[in-house]
Amino acid sequence: MRIVLPGAETRFIEAITHGGAFLSVGGPRPNTMTIGWGSIGDFWNRDVMTVAVRPSRFTHEILEREGEFTVSVPAADRPLSRELRFAGTVSGRDEDKFRGHGLTAAPAKSVGAPIVGECALHFECRVLCRTEMDHMDPGVLPRFYPDGDLHTLYLAEVVACYETK
Ligand SMILES: Cc1cc2nc3c(=O)[nH]c(=O)nc-3n(C[C@H](O)[C@H](O)[C@H](O)COP(=O)(O)O)c2cc1C
Repeated sequence: MRIVLPGAETRFIEAITHGGAFLSVGGPRPNTMTIGWGSIGDFWNRDVMTVAVRPSRFTHEILEREGEFTVSVPAADRPLSRELRFAGTVSGRDEDKFRGHGLTAAPAKSVGAPIVGECALHFECRVLCRTEMDHMDPGVLPRFYPDGDLHTLYLAEVVACYETK
């Protein structure tokens, strides 16, 4: 699929570098977590989003099983800073983040994972490739991975991209 919404990729990069975006997964216990790392570009003649999720995250466990996720980006005039902080510090193992914290799981169009209803821009993604980090630069390894929780990289086709509200 090709993204046709003007500026969607830039808004995604802006969001993750300034506060974060919500990565949501579905299945029996839908969950969302804040992401600050990622990219979007061309792989295999498709629009592909790459996200990095550490194995310690509850989201990782679900993503491994479901193979689908969404990324929801807050609107500029509603940055959802408190909610991003919450989703980025509390684990879905301990709390249902879609209950009582100002985050609504709304149905997506093409994947089983929900979108965050309070956000303005949404990407629906299907994982094409997952890969472990290998040959890590010695300057990066000790700073970001002192306890070895190396991110899994997910390269996922953007199967839908749209705005709500
Ligand atoms: C601004 C911000 C950005 C983050 N980016 C990532 C990320 O890209 N990858 C990751 O694995 N964790 C990231 N985190 C940490 C997770 O969001 C956090 O550990 C979360 O509680 C995991 O939730 P879960 O256990 O329900 O999956 C980030 C946290 C914050 C606050």
